[in-house]
Amino acid sequence: MTQASASKQRDILVTSALPYANGPIHLGHLLEYIQTDIWVRYQKMRGHNCYYVCADDAHGTAIMLRAEREGITSEALIKRISEEHQQDFSGFHIRFDNYHSTHSEENRSFSEYIYRQLQANGHIATRQITQSFDPEKNMFLADRFIKGTCPKCKAEDQYGDNCEACGATYTPAELINPRSAVSGATPIEKESEHYFFRLPEFADFLKHWTRSGTLQPQVANKLAEWLDAGLQEWDISRDAPYFGFEIPDAPGKYFYVWLDAPIGYLASFKNLCEREGIDFDHFWKPESTAEVYHFIGKDIINFHALFWPSMLHSAGFRTPSAIYAHGFVTVNGKKMSKSRGTFIMARTFLDHLNPEYLRYYFAAKLTGGVDDMDLNLEDFAFRVNSDLVGKVVNIASRSAGFITKRFNGQLGTVTESDKLNVFVAAGDELAECYENREFGRGMRRIMELADIANQYVNDEQPWVIAKEEGQDDRLQAICTNALNMFRLLMTYLAPVLPETARASEDFLNTRLDWNNRAAHLENHGINKFKALMSRVEMKQIDTMLDASKEELPTATAATTKPEAPAAGMIDPIAAEIDFETFAKVDLRVVEIVKAEPVEGADKLLRLTLNIGEGERNVFAGIKSAYTPEQLQGRLTVMVANLKPRKMKFGVSEGMVLAAGPGGKDIFILSPDAGATPGMRIM
Ligand code: 2FM
Ligand code: ZN
Repeated sequence: MTQASASKQRDILVTSALPYANGPIHLGHLLEYIQTDIWVRYQKMRGHNCYYVCADDAHGTAIMLRAEREGITSEALIKRISEEHQQDFSGFHIRFDNYHSTHSEENRSFSEYIYRQLQANGHIATRQITQSFDPEKNMFLADRFIKGTCPKCKAEDQYGDNCEACGATYTPAELINPRSAVSGATPIEKESEHYFFRLPEFADFLKHWTRSGTLQPQVANKLAEWLDAGLQEWDISRDAPYFGFEIPDAPGKYFYVWLDAPIGYLASFKNLCEREGIDFDHFWKPESTAEVYHFIGKDIINFHALFWPSMLHSAGFRTPSAIYAHGFVTVNGKKMSKSRGTFIMARTFLDHLNPEYLRYYFAAKLTGGVDDMDLNLEDFAFRVNSDLVGKVVNIASRSAGFITKRFNGQLGTVTESDKLNVFVAAGDELAECYENREFGRGMRRIMELADIANQYVNDEQPWVIAKEEGQDDRLQAICTNALNMFRLLMTYLAPVLPETARASEDFLNTRLDWNNRAAHLENHGINKFKALMSRVEMKQIDTMLDASKEELPTATAATTKPEAPAAGMIDPIAAEIDFETFAKVDLRVVEIVKAEPVEGADKLLRLTLNIGEGERNVFAGIKSAYTPEQLQGRLTVMVANLKPRKMKFGVSEGMVLAAGPGGKDIFILSPDAGATPGMRIM
């Protein structure tokens, strides 16, 4: 018997990968959280005891450096980012049972415990290694914190491990003119003692574990290749300064962020268990009957399917029941790109579109495999409009009015049991689809049922019957049948569309209960129908893309897997500049002669600036903080010799200086009284 058709209540713990606490959630992240949330909501609907936990992945050099640049503590930074992440998740109806942080006491305690277990079992080694070191910052530099000229194609400003211009891979030592991306200093080589996890000792365990149904077939095959090629010891320590947990009995040595990140799953769950009186050990003891699933992206399989199960095994915990990996998101067939406006932040999407559109689109295209997912924006609008608005919601909107107006909101009795039984029976097939993460197949089946329901209404023509004498019972029955079909469709869609499902429950005056779906709604009062979902307009999508393009230069920190700083973005790990370079910047006092909104741009104002020797046109992303009236006539400071930049709305001839985290808190700089337009700042 499959899991899906078993009626026994299951204890299930589910996680999604922990997002780094140094940047906002974007569409690429959302695929995973939406996939996991749908799966979890489905399990909960079936009455299983399912917990979904997550946390911010709060440690590492990138977070430490970003906090330093912002002049705040790492703790303050991760607190702020965690709040932003949670707002974004909740905007997309991602419903965690607990959202914690890897910088927590629970995580410190589990990390130390697991490390001590590994050490006691002889799985930790130490040895000296040589690494690049920044003599000014007094810190070791990972490859991505070293920049220089590519030894192959001579492109400048390339990261220490690969060239983005020609694709070459190399070691930092091969870079021409290497420099620290943190301070600009020339790195030196320095030795230090590192701690290693002896992964090769787990080769036999992993050969068995990775073939025991815990991994998708493609993933298991990939791992078999890695295992055949031989495993390396894993460096789990980093030297101070580092934002993380100090290794017990090893002053100045810290756990590498990837050591304590997956332990964050345990920590977040423990935090939930303490709060709600759940038996932690029942889930995590060896041979546990509970199930544990990790949803992750395919780029972090090695951490989850090699290191993590080995650590758990050695430390005396159970290993995951399965790891479910997914592919990457592309937009309109290409990698997400800031210049195309397709690097879409969760918040930007929420500002323009209903999050359920994305939940449905991802669901409609998701399989249980690791293939990449393309968000084609035209197809997105088409599918949402055609499937959800045109098919599903339409069934209710075509039938509800008659029940309200003619029957005082009362349903009659079902007269199409056979047809409805097809809908009920489809629930078993759909259960398999949800269980196996074949959401696309499930959505197609649901839309086939929606077609049957619409065909039924077309055939019965309630709008014609409504005009005929003595046909009240028939009219009521047709609408009752149709609304029961709608109820079943919405029951099946509830994991994907939680908000529309909730509104449908209000409308139908009932709970959408999967397990009790065979009980039809008969002789039952419903509420007045209100529009459940509106159509997506291409214009909304275009506006969202424009808003994404508009994302103005903001300093975003390098992540463990840094992306190339996009054109127009300030290099996230900018080096110090010398005085001569600074002296080249032409900073001027200017008067804002005119400020006006820019049609189609949510964040920009067009400023006409008097720079003493003529006027300049500059676009500034300060609309969230200032009205045009507040700016007109004010003096501020601009960079007057910035190369003109062609933007969607025209050419921007410079940049006004402003400070602040964003939103309402942006403050343009103002010179003291006495300054006049055109004065150079020295
Ligand atoms: O790749 C990432 O974004 C990591 N922050 C994921 C960590 S998942 C888990 F291991 F904590
Ligand atoms: Zn190159």
